[in-house]
Amino acid sequence: MSNVTRDVLVKKLQDRTARVAVIGMGYVGLPLATVFAEAGFEVTGVDPVAEKMEALNRGESYILDVPSEQVARLVKAGKLKGTTDYAVLSEMDAVSICVPTPLRKTGDPDLSYISSATESLAPYLHEGMVVVLESSTYPGTTREMVLPQLNCRYGLEVGRDFFLAFSPERVDPGRKDWTTKNTPKVVGGITEACSDVATCWYEQALDTVVRVSSTEVAEMAKLLENTFRMINIGLVNELAIMCDRLGVDVWEVIDAAATKPFGFMKFTPGPGLGGHCIPIDPLYLSWKMRSLNYTARFIELASEINTSMPRFVLGRITDALNNQGKPVKGSRVLLLGVAYKPNIDDLRESPALDLIHLLKEKGAQVSYYDPHIPHIHADGDIEEMDSVTDWRAEVQAADCVVIVTNHKVFDYPAILELSRCVVDTRNALGEAGKKSDKVVRL
Ligand SMILES: NC(=O)c1ccc[n+]([C@@H]2O[C@H](COP(=O)([O-])OP(=O)(O)OC[C@H]3O[C@@H](n4cnc5c(N)ncnc54)[C@H](O)[C@@H]3O)[C@@H](O)[C@H]2O)c1
Repeated sequence: MSNVTRDVLVKKLQDRTARVAVIGMGYVGLPLATVFAEAGFEVTGVDPVAEKMEALNRGESYILDVPSEQVARLVKAGKLKGTTDYAVLSEMDAVSICVPTPLRKTGDPDLSYISSATESLAPYLHEGMVVVLESSTYPGTTREMVLPQLNCRYGLEVGRDFFLAFSPERVDPGRKDWTTKNTPKVVGGITEACSDVATCWYEQALDTVVRVSSTEVAEMAKLLENTFRMINIGLVNELAIMCDRLGVDVWEVIDAAATKPFGFMKFTPGPGLGGHCIPIDPLYLSWKMRSLNYTARFIELASEINTSMPRFVLGRITDALNNQGKPVKGSRVLLLGVAYKPNIDDLRESPALDLIHLLKEKGAQVSYYDPHIPHIHADGDIEEMDSVTDWRAEVQAADCVVIVTNHKVFDYPAILELSRCVVDTRNALGEAGKKSDKVVRL
């Protein structure tokens, strides 16, 4: 079927004259914006946080994975800029939405960011514009929520006058081998024409684009990926609890199982789930299923086990202190690493926050060392804290050192040597930890 608007837009995308905007310039949006800019598009980031947009326009990156030199080069070349003003969208041809999708305190999806970004975009929607939602969300969001917000009021028809698609982001912050550019990108449109345009756009900048038949397939694919991880992490976390009761070394069991060359994938236990994706996205799916009178049992169970892990670790800390004849109350406990995973500066949903809360509740004197996170802002049950600076002195002074995040920068042999007692939740000390009688492993 001929579609002049689609063909004109595709041509602009192919010759890179299409103007691109990224709404929401965080961990996902900034790297995506740089990838589009590197591909030759003129890219404008739109974010309400003025400090971020000012930093960007000065050529400074505020995301660890994106080097400032790259941002500075792209800004200088006129390929990248930032603004807090949505009005720029009236001049844009292609818009990607990368805003947060957290949970409410009740555990229900919080779609307010998508809703407000869409509402701010709607007045500037025009013929020949493609919009792609990237935020992780439950199947149906793009069609049931974003589409009515965009087209009801202005009478433009999707698939003919403007184009709407969903493309989940898979970026794994801190990772060097798989980046925004070379990780295959799934794209599904509301209509065939929407898929044509969105696929064409992303193919200009990303190495591999995987086209699927609908926005719902693209939305659900993301949730399958993260649910798969969450359930397998829940399984090994329960394995750790079972091995503890059995007196079997869980790490040795997992390493032994991982020698099977097929049919097994290695996951490792830890102090709980963290980050903006794995603990949250599957709950978007279970919430949606509840609205259809179906209980997503695997998700609920894995979530229950994963959220119980900080309490399990508290039990190990209590045992470790007990071995020294000390109660938790009044003991000095130093957490090493508070980021939710190694070598990144992201604290969101980190199990370290639960541990800090649980330990303080029991009267411990808690401090932490994390070179990636110098400060913890007060939030809910958590009071403001600063990372200690002289980690050697603190390790020596602590009654118990807890390795929560296995950052590469930590000097593990020194930690083992200087400490009185270590609870190693990540097997960061490896064989040396296994052999030492001052180390309690998960
Ligand atoms: N961080 C990851 O590793 C990752 C990976 C894959 C998918 N995701 C998903 O991508 C989405 C974005 O996550 P993120 O980690 O980039 O979040 P983030 O908090 O780092 O960034 C979101 C940005 O959106 C901005 N914002 C909020 N409301 C806005 C609005 N109305 N208009 C414009 N900007 C607005 C915020 O100021 C912030 O800069 C989420 O749905 C998340 O689940 C994240």
